[in-house]
Amino acid sequence: MAVTEPQNPHGAARGHTPPVAIIGPGAIGATIAAVLHEVGRSPGLFGRTARDGLEVFAGEERILVPGPVLTDPAAVEGPAEVVFLAVKATQIAAAAPWLTALCGPDTVLCVLQNGVEQTSTVSPHVPPGTVVLPSVVWFPAQAEADGSVRLRAEPRLTLPEATGAERVVEALQGTRCTVEVSSDFASVAWRKLLQNAAAGLMALTGRRSGVFARHDVADLTLAYLQECLSVARAEGARLGDDVPGEILARFQSSPADMSTSILTDRESSRPLEWDIRNGVVSRLGRAHGIPTPVGDVVTTLLAATSDGPG
Ligand SMILES: NC(=O)c1ccc[n+]([C@@H]2O[C@H](COP(=O)([O-])OP(=O)(O)OC[C@H]3O[C@@H](n4cnc5c(N)ncnc54)[C@H](OP(=O)(O)O)[C@@H]3O)[C@@H](O)[C@H]2O)c1
Repeated sequence: MAVTEPQNPHGAARGHTPPVAIIGPGAIGATIAAVLHEVGRSPGLFGRTARDGLEVFAGEERILVPGPVLTDPAAVEGPAEVVFLAVKATQIAAAAPWLTALCGPDTVLCVLQNGVEQTSTVSPHVPPGTVVLPSVVWFPAQAEADGSVRLRAEPRLTLPEATGAERVVEALQGTRCTVEVSSDFASVAWRKLLQNAAAGLMALTGRRSGVFARHDVADLTLAYLQECLSVARAEGARLGDDVPGEILARFQSSPADMSTSILTDRESSRPLEWDIRNGVVSRLGRAHGIPTPVGDVVTTLLAATSDGPG
């Protein structure tokens, strides 16, 4: 196994804010930290759990990203140039002190989260002038119980063709993370959202992707995805009639034990990102006058599973 050893000339422990900062060095944040470290541009790490460094496994490689992971926003010296926010959507408010400390009028904040609402959910928490840039995160990564992270595919992001995108592209230039810039970001983001929405059925059933082999679950998935498609189109996404079938087919052709982060969160009794992955379809459906009866049931059950009471 190849090991990339820690050397951190840019890290936050050096008493100044590094040019690139990661808030939330979990599965996705640690992956971005690792790809930056591999090319000699180790970012500052800012999180909830103090760690000496990060350990990321990518195939046969073990990448050790030097820390420390700082946990006190008051210790931040000033804003960074590019900040990646990789906390869960349910953790944005709690992470707000980091956004205040690390962002400023010259900062581009790239939000590495699922959903189609990153700009509206994060913008209220940043200082004036900060550019908030959404993204679509395409790669699966898993945080293990010991804090290490297992990367399960080549890292890939899509950004909108918008102010700040070029700074993020530059920050990740030369790394193993592919960055695409899309002039039709809404369509890309909504396609990913449909995939995430359907994956909510895995959290509800407590089953991995093998569950989509059931005819009744497949029918339910298609009915749900048709609702999602109508809402996506009303929001300006250009997605074809074949998208629901394609998404279902992809789940059905995946390994039967393939999981999803919302199922992992359920199995660990953590809050679920039900609102940004499923609730959003019902909310925006209501705003557009589009009925979403399947989505309403799915959302209610996911919300209750996540938040109780009981
Ligand atoms: N994982 C995937 O495969 C994947 C794929 C596509 C998209 N996404 C999306 O990417 C986003 C991040 O997911 P993830 O899987 O990387 O989550 P994760 O592994 O749970 O990572 C979240 C990180 O944020 C930290 N954190 C929590 N509260 C914080 C706070 N108040 N201040 C600073 N840091 C805080 C957590 O610290 P602790 O260590 O203390 O918990 C953890 O390190 C989500 O929106 C998810 O849906 C994930």
